[in-house]
Amino acid sequence: MSEHLSNEQLIQAAHQFGTPLYLYHAEKISEQYNKLTTAFNKSNVVFFYACKALTNINILKHIKNIGCNIDCSSINEAKLALHAGFTPERVLYTSNGIAFEEIEEAKNLGIHINIDSISNLEKFGKKFGHSYPVGIRLRPNIMAGGNLKISTGHDKSKFGIPVDQIDEVLNLIDKYNLHIKDLHIHTGSEIKDVEVFVKGIEVLFEIMPKFNELEFIDLGGGFKVPYKDGDAETDINLLAEKVKEAFDNHPYHKPLQVWFEPGKFMVSECGYFITEVNVLKQTKTTDFIGVNSGFNHLIRPMFYDAYHKIKNISNPDGEVKHYAVTGNICETDTFAWDRKLNEVREGDLLVFYNAGAYGFEMSSNFNSRYKPAEVLFINNEFHLIRKRDSFEDLLKNQVEIL
Ligand code: LLP
Repeated sequence: MSEHLSNEQLIQAAHQFGTPLYLYHAEKISEQYNKLTTAFNKSNVVFFYACKALTNINILKHIKNIGCNIDCSSINEAKLALHAGFTPERVLYTSNGIAFEEIEEAKNLGIHINIDSISNLEKFGKKFGHSYPVGIRLRPNIMAGGNLKISTGHDKSKFGIPVDQIDEVLNLIDKYNLHIKDLHIHTGSEIKDVEVFVKGIEVLFEIMPKFNELEFIDLGGGFKVPYKDGDAETDINLLAEKVKEAFDNHPYHKPLQVWFEPGKFMVSECGYFITEVNVLKQTKTTDFIGVNSGFNHLIRPMFYDAYHKIKNISNPDGEVKHYAVTGNICETDTFAWDRKLNEVREGDLLVFYNAGAYGFEMSSNFNSRYKPAEVLFINNEFHLIRKRDSFEDLLKNQVEIL
């Protein structure tokens, strides 16, 4: 297991590239991928990194270099994947609520496509019939995931075609002679309990015999990662056992591949978000820290109540005190309430852990602040992989008519 980057390394990066800064450790990504391939080495399982978590082109290239495939949620992600050098057969595109034209574009790129509505399935059948194999994203009606905002497989979710509408799907397949090569489900993010995946497989087992050209089933992503010391992650070895057991115990004889689309599992822990303390504000009830960031850079704590471990790397032996860690934007942007930190002084560096997945990727220019720079630590060296925004970037696409 590779250690976290040390305080000294984080401080060095902050001095070299400035703050706020996203820093990624390439070796940690490789380590996470190895965990998956080692656990599943006895099964016919393939992994597609859900790149919505982090799309810096260098991260995509690293993922490609270590042999992992890629899952995309928009046509632009698919184009970035091809730009990174993935061949089309290593690119999967699972969309939601998109215009049919985008599916046509994906077909022209020659990548795998999962269609997630009856409407687009019908349009696809009308236009392409049996000529281009596709997958179907189903909604298994299973409640799973860390919180409601990141639960996608339940019976009120907009994602996928509800399994209870399978007869409509079969009618379309009949009518247009559609070539269905896979069934896909993704029930949510941060799923600790491996039984959720088994339940998903069971739902698919029920309907699989109705599809006679299936080559694989795709169980989506959603593996949980640890956020605090002692926190559990999805037990990947147990999951591998359970998936194998489910197939061994089922009379479905055609050999099927299983696909997974891990996002967080691949890149959450490789990421560090380094900020600097602008101000301390002591009030009767609370000691506030104001750092040079906010939900414009890391929205997960505010949007999902996500917990990110925070450390004061400038004063690691300081007396432990309680703080509210906030940002510098014009709305409530509390990263953490009542958080224990080694005594914090203005100018100290505070690091947020687990910042690789959905960190930079969900950042914005709110308050006309710059998006942070990104740095990759690879082969023992720091490399700038995205420049910090500049003032020109704020005006770049604006059309000044006055
Ligand atoms: N496949 C599909 C179809 C998905 O929609 C997602 C995530 C994944 C795979 C990857 O899930 P993961 O392994 O990363 O859990 N922004 C939220 C997470 C939203 C996930 C959306 N879909 C967060 O920061 O917690």
